[in-house]
Amino acid sequence: MKDKTGRDIDYLRISLTDKCNLSCIYCKGSEKHKKELSVSEIEKIVKGFASCGIKKVRLTGGEPLLRSDIAEIIRSLKKIDGIEKIVLTTNGILLKAYAKELKNAGLSAVNISLDTTDQKQYAELTGADKLKDVFEGIKAAQEVGLSPVRINSVLIKGKNDDSAKELISLAKHNEIDVRFIELMPFTKEGRDEDKIVTGDEILNLFPELTLIENKDEKSVARYFTAEGFKGRIGLITPVSNKFCSKCNRIRLLSDGKVRPCLGDEKEIDLMPFIDNEAKLLEAIKYAIMNKPTNHSFNCEYGNFHSMNQIGG
Ligand code: 5AD
Repeated sequence: MKDKTGRDIDYLRISLTDKCNLSCIYCKGSEKHKKELSVSEIEKIVKGFASCGIKKVRLTGGEPLLRSDIAEIIRSLKKIDGIEKIVLTTNGILLKAYAKELKNAGLSAVNISLDTTDQKQYAELTGADKLKDVFEGIKAAQEVGLSPVRINSVLIKGKNDDSAKELISLAKHNEIDVRFIELMPFTKEGRDEDKIVTGDEILNLFPELTLIENKDEKSVARYFTAEGFKGRIGLITPVSNKFCSKCNRIRLLSDGKVRPCLGDEKEIDLMPFIDNEAKLLEAIKYAIMNKPTNHSFNCEYGNFHSMNQIGG
């Protein structure tokens, strides 16, 4: 279905939980956790979204693999008419244990968040000494045939920007896309503009990267390659170069509120309508129709949800 500005909204991101087994400096939020939707509530809501034209669903969190019913959720979404693709964003720590079951349940692809290849730096950034588990998770995802397996990295000046080269070399030696996402202002860390490493700065540092013609019109990343690379480098620039006019996504938070735009606090609560199909559909249509034209990010720090609550 098209929103009021004519964008075709066909991609739903669902935050399954606001809990996380990491506490990344640019992401960690409140210790208070929201109530989580049950499998049948998620199913009812996604049926509504599918009838409005949603074709792709991304499961996120928090850390979605902390939901022990994750495979059941994927199986139930897979059965919904109109849902063509289910993908996942995870920090990868539990992926080794889940990869096979999730693939069998109908998961297509996975994005793994990884901001450094250095064990000590990983522990400093995330609060957990789990880098080895992430690498095992990446390997397991490839082995069971999840495709594509991509890495998402956020660089922060003075913290992990010195890891850019090593992260890029993961795409050189493996069939993996490594995508750099600009730090967004969700925590105190992200409010400091001097800490953002922009897409252009990465290109200046690595002039060997050359732009690949974009075949996927819906992709928000610009992709680059260099000689001898097996994978690609992606740049996602929500801060330095907004892509709102081609945004095709809408978000469902773990407590049943719809967030039409990541960078705008407006939310629509679906829970009052969860047992009334017609009203639920009406609320979903309203949320899609009224998706903000642009993200603003200009909310008071402290009032703003962090990424673990909105869904990465
Ligand atoms: N800025 C940019 N990306 C963020 N993520 C979480 N918080 C931020 C932020 N402040 C990303 C993570 C991960 C996904 C879940 O969201 O790096 O890739």
